[in-house]
Amino acid sequence: MKVYLETFGCQMNELDSELVRGHLLSLGYRFTSSPDEASVVLFNTCSVREQAESKAYSRIGIVGKRKAAGEQIILGVLGCMAERDGADMLRRYPQVDLLCGPGELDKLPMLIDNVRRTEGIRARSLPSTDRVALAGNKSRRSATLAAAEDSLEALDLGRAFEPRGGGSDRSAYVRITRGCNKFCTYCVVPYTRGAEVHRPPDHIVDECKRLADAGVIEVTLVGQTVNHYVYVHGSATAVDGSEAPQVGPGPAAFTAAGLARLRTGGSKVTTFAGLLHRIHEQVPSIQRLRFVTSYPRDFGDEVLDVLGACPRICRYLHAPAQSGSNRILKLMNRGYTVEEYREFIDRVLAKLPDASIAGDIIVGFPTETDEDFEATVALVRAVPFKNNFIFKYSPRPGTTAIERFADDVPTEVKKLRNNQLLAIQSEVSADVHKRWVGQAVQVLVEGPSRASQDVGESASDLTWGATDGPGVVSAPNSPVEAGARTVGLRVLAGQPAGPTRRAPGTAPGATQLVGRTSGDLITVFDCPAGRSITDLIGTIVTVHVTGHGSLILQGSLV
Ligand code: SAH
Ligand code: SF4
Ligand code: F3S
Repeated sequence: MKVYLETFGCQMNELDSELVRGHLLSLGYRFTSSPDEASVVLFNTCSVREQAESKAYSRIGIVGKRKAAGEQIILGVLGCMAERDGADMLRRYPQVDLLCGPGELDKLPMLIDNVRRTEGIRARSLPSTDRVALAGNKSRRSATLAAAEDSLEALDLGRAFEPRGGGSDRSAYVRITRGCNKFCTYCVVPYTRGAEVHRPPDHIVDECKRLADAGVIEVTLVGQTVNHYVYVHGSATAVDGSEAPQVGPGPAAFTAAGLARLRTGGSKVTTFAGLLHRIHEQVPSIQRLRFVTSYPRDFGDEVLDVLGACPRICRYLHAPAQSGSNRILKLMNRGYTVEEYREFIDRVLAKLPDASIAGDIIVGFPTETDEDFEATVALVRAVPFKNNFIFKYSPRPGTTAIERFADDVPTEVKKLRNNQLLAIQSEVSADVHKRWVGQAVQVLVEGPSRASQDVGESASDLTWGATDGPGVVSAPNSPVEAGARTVGLRVLAGQPAGPTRRAPGTAPGATQLVGRTSGDLITVFDCPAGRSITDLIGTIVTVHVTGHGSLILQGSLV
């Protein structure tokens, strides 16, 4: 049985797909990169914006046509869309055989098996309980016990660690929290991923060690608001007495008094800073330790001090501001003001002047006026963001915002604000990148650049100067593209097609390689004659920066 698995959405989904893949492989399934060859097609979906859902629906439509033409395919929808749409999706899309929410992925093999036993095509006759695993309203059940019983932890613990070859194996995601308790009014995540659950530090450190043993040199810790990670030891145990995942406290815990309360009775607490420090010290072969996403509130100096003291922790923060208007931030329920956001960034840059800051912005949130938008423009101009992912507000069913506010900013205005902000961000990004010209940077090599792959030998004739104004720097469709590894290639792919001018210092015929600095700046350089591309991929090299675009550094290998 060959399986095709396609992933939409954030790093969380990428990681889930990797775990699902490992689980199915261990059960004898084989994978293919071509949907046409597969007898099981799985889409791991995202609900964060309507556009993300439309993409998945169009794929579901294609498989539907193949099934109508008589092909025997098992079609499974996994992830946040499955959870959000619920079993209703089976009625509206009868080609879908099974649904599996992000909190139930450990049950996927059983669901596939159930459908297989009825020969796929007749799956509709199966009771939905045999082909649907969704957390439903229990996903917000917040008892400690529910988290301790979290069978999903088994999926992370059962991760396959064998090296698979290729440069991408050098980087891996490790989950530190699941779910989210913040309830920003526009966001589906607290409903699709459920209550915030924090994994025991031992599990996380052990996973990092095993990944390092398998050759991983870059680990990205993932969670929706990583700096709110906190684990109170001794309060949640599994049946065998070992520590178990536990439900995270609300934001109130992150004041000094709140943390003191967590420590009452002498309870030992591992904070986010403590976790970072522990991984840095205990897994020295991880050369780059990153984390996403940071919440701009409650980002204590303790974390910044750890970043300052630990050279292998990347000075890179993805800390979405979402808006520069206090009125809108309040309607979004973000829990901070623009002044607090600025204070946070100032504090970061005072302690870590070379830190790289990235973010997300939503334009066209309900009631957003020109004045509100101008406040966002002012924020983007004031903070040295290396990049910002700019999204047009998309009303999501089930969220507070869709119920409370009309989506009253016209599409045209959203588009205009989006393009205006992209153009401004492009200038800001160019300034940030410019600072590195003349310096030497450490680059983890990912592979041949997209341009090299697209046009082969003539790659070096393509320009990398992504400074050409609005529209060039395309906003990603989903936050997966904000992920540590995928953004560059996609953003570069968004550039105008066809050769333009030759990048400075590019030798004709040389293959251009792409990688990232520890601050997550995309860097391109030519593979020098006599050096093997495969040997360079997955290693950290020194690149002398000779030029820049708004989203890339250009340089040569030292
Ligand atoms: N936990 C992260 C964000 C996860 S969702 C945080 O709080 O920073 C990734 C991004 O998608 C968000 O930062 C936001 O900018 C965007 N987003 C979420 N819901 C959206 C919606 N309904 N419309 C448009 N953009 C949205
Ligand atoms: Fe969504 Fe807000 Fe949670 Fe981020 S913090 S996942 S935007 S609810
Ligand atoms: Fe879910 Fe991630 Fe999308 S949590 S809604 S897949 S952004």
